[in-house]
Amino acid sequence: MTSLLFTPLKLRSLEIRNRVFVSPMCQYSCRDGLANDWHLVHLGARAAGGAGLVMAEATAVTPEGRISPEDLGLWSDAHADALRPVVAFIRAQGAVPAIQLAHAGRKASCASPWKGGQALAPGQGAWTTLAPSALPFGHFPAPRALAREELQALVEAFRAAARRALAVGFEVVEVHMAHGYLLHNFLSPLSNQRTDDYGGSLENRARLPLEVTRAVRALWPEKLPVMVRISATDWKEGGWDLEQSIELARWLKEAGADLIDCSSGGLAADAQIPARPGYQVPFAAAIRQAAAIPTAAVGLITEAAQAEQILACGQADAIAIARASLRDPHWPLRAAAQLHAEIPWPVQYERGKPMF
Ligand SMILES: Cc1cc2nc3c(=O)[nH]c(=O)nc-3n(C[C@H](O)[C@H](O)[C@H](O)COP(=O)(O)O)c2cc1C
Repeated sequence: MTSLLFTPLKLRSLEIRNRVFVSPMCQYSCRDGLANDWHLVHLGARAAGGAGLVMAEATAVTPEGRISPEDLGLWSDAHADALRPVVAFIRAQGAVPAIQLAHAGRKASCASPWKGGQALAPGQGAWTTLAPSALPFGHFPAPRALAREELQALVEAFRAAARRALAVGFEVVEVHMAHGYLLHNFLSPLSNQRTDDYGGSLENRARLPLEVTRAVRALWPEKLPVMVRISATDWKEGGWDLEQSIELARWLKEAGADLIDCSSGGLAADAQIPARPGYQVPFAAAIRQAAAIPTAAVGLITEAAQAEQILACGQADAIAIARASLRDPHWPLRAAAQLHAEIPWPVQYERGKPMF
């Protein structure tokens, strides 16, 4: 029996060698937003580890869009140049290099996790965060509400970052609309209480996220896919939910998105999230079915058989792995052996290949 997990996935003209995606993971390891040896080794190891697609972490489109001062950025050509060798290495391993473009919105200006993860204090280099409305996340300082005239510059920042990503060889771009960051702040009624045409109705709350998607799509080559990560629910009464996600996914499809990466949560500090193995898979399944668009499932998917079953049940088209990939950069090579799928190993590692 052939493994679905190791069956190529074709999106537009791009063939991804298998359906294991390395999920974007902030590394908080940059100075001034520039990629360095850490990114080469971290992402490179996971490409050599057999993943079909390796996605670079949330990459800020403006300096204020960083979660922490150590976030990766793409707001200048120097940032793109720093990523060039990383992209070349991922490609040389046969994996698809992808990048997640982000703006952290009201959750920006924080210390990196190992420095406490809290909102930075004024003496620690804090900056004013930006959001649709001046409503804080949990105990964080209140953000400044963006003026309507500022919104097009944000669309332009995403567009410019995508242009740079393309120039250095990324083949997939993902727009980050999840986890309580800026575009999610616009989507959710809990963080967006604007009274102009960017707030209120679902159509209005989705306006900026859709404008960003269209702008990115317009410059991304026809033959290459654009992905979008959403939080399918805020896990909170009165917040963003699956029903709105399905409508948004339909609009994203019209805007030229090719896959919805289905995460959840991150917007409400007090949300109760029932995290257990595969807990977000039903969102990927429902969106795939109702909006007729490919999806990626993510979240506590740790075992090869579990990933295979999600695909076999038609719940998703790809599986994104985050923490399990931190534990084992060769997760895909190991999973292939467990599923009896014959996949090429890096020649340098062939002597470590298990015998069937
Ligand atoms: C260290 C770390 C950093 C993360 N950074 C990002 C990120 O940059 N963008 C994003 O969308 N999700 C990020 N996430 C969430 C993961 O991509 C993933 O959705 C989540 O960890 C659930 O998957 P898992 O159970 O396989 O870890 C991060 C997770 C971890 C553990």
